[in-house]
Amino acid sequence: MRMIKTFILSGAALAMISGAIVPHAQAKTVKVHMKAVETDVVIDNKGTKYPAWTYDGGIPGQVVRVKQGDTVDFTLDNPASNKNSHSIDFHAAEVDVLNEFAAVRPGHSKHFVFTAKRAGVYMYHCGANPMVQHIARGMYGVIIVDPKTYSKAYPKPDREYVLIQSQYFPDADNYSAMLENKGWTNSLINGKIFNYDPVHDPNATKVLMAKPGERVRIFFVNANVNMPVAFHPIAGIWDRVYVNGNPKNVLYDVQTYGVPVAAASTFDIVSPSDHATNNAIVDHTMSAALRGAITVLMNRPDADPKLGKGDNILLR
Ligand code: CU
Ligand code: CU
Repeated sequence: MRMIKTFILSGAALAMISGAIVPHAQAKTVKVHMKAVETDVVIDNKGTKYPAWTYDGGIPGQVVRVKQGDTVDFTLDNPASNKNSHSIDFHAAEVDVLNEFAAVRPGHSKHFVFTAKRAGVYMYHCGANPMVQHIARGMYGVIIVDPKTYSKAYPKPDREYVLIQSQYFPDADNYSAMLENKGWTNSLINGKIFNYDPVHDPNATKVLMAKPGERVRIFFVNANVNMPVAFHPIAGIWDRVYVNGNPKNVLYDVQTYGVPVAAASTFDIVSPSDHATNNAIVDHTMSAALRGAITVLMNRPDADPKLGKGDNILLR
């Protein structure tokens, strides 16, 4: 598991309230660095290689995680060894598309800062031309903007997982087919077909785990280029859905929730506490589920205590 490359630059911020200086929750500057890497990656559990375009060499890119109000100090390097221009578009940033999100030619880099003002879960992706190909070839990831505090409306979860779904087009150079939604053969979850599903793929070695009764929070991103996702936990019900990941946008007791292309939402599931169960978290769109978009969540007393915590929220 690659470490999240962030560190804190500055300390407490002060707020002026009624003429007095009152310290409030610390706003930080979080430094994030990415490198565009055009390289082969493995896209299934048996080792099939694909000529991907990536952030830092893997699909998806690193998990960027900040608190609401933090400033992101971002640098993208596009090494001279690459053949293509690349860029980044953080959906959590309110900036100038022609400036911060501009394409970076090989041998150049781009630096910009933005403040993550609105809590939520957001996609990031490459926006270089043709964008459909840069996303389909793997240049996407998630930025989580945590609210300043947990609350009754947004309780602290016991475990957290990131799931990012995308469409796999084996003909990596045929971007017109990508535009027409032709030639996609599989769905990827965090960059692999049936990544966490040993039921449908005996080569799969990983699953999500929790203990019975734990609150499991899933940050889900739809990085498909053309298809919405019908996000459903088989043998369960979403206890809460936070639309766009924002605690203000809460829905209760939802069976299936639609996530459009380039959207993300946060999903809580709580399994029965008195016995072990399993869930299969799927895109209930059958053409996607049976082509790779199924994830097993095991709820059992001996669940690995390291999974779904800290740097283990996106399982590689
Ligand atoms: Cu790119
Ligand atoms: Cu976008």
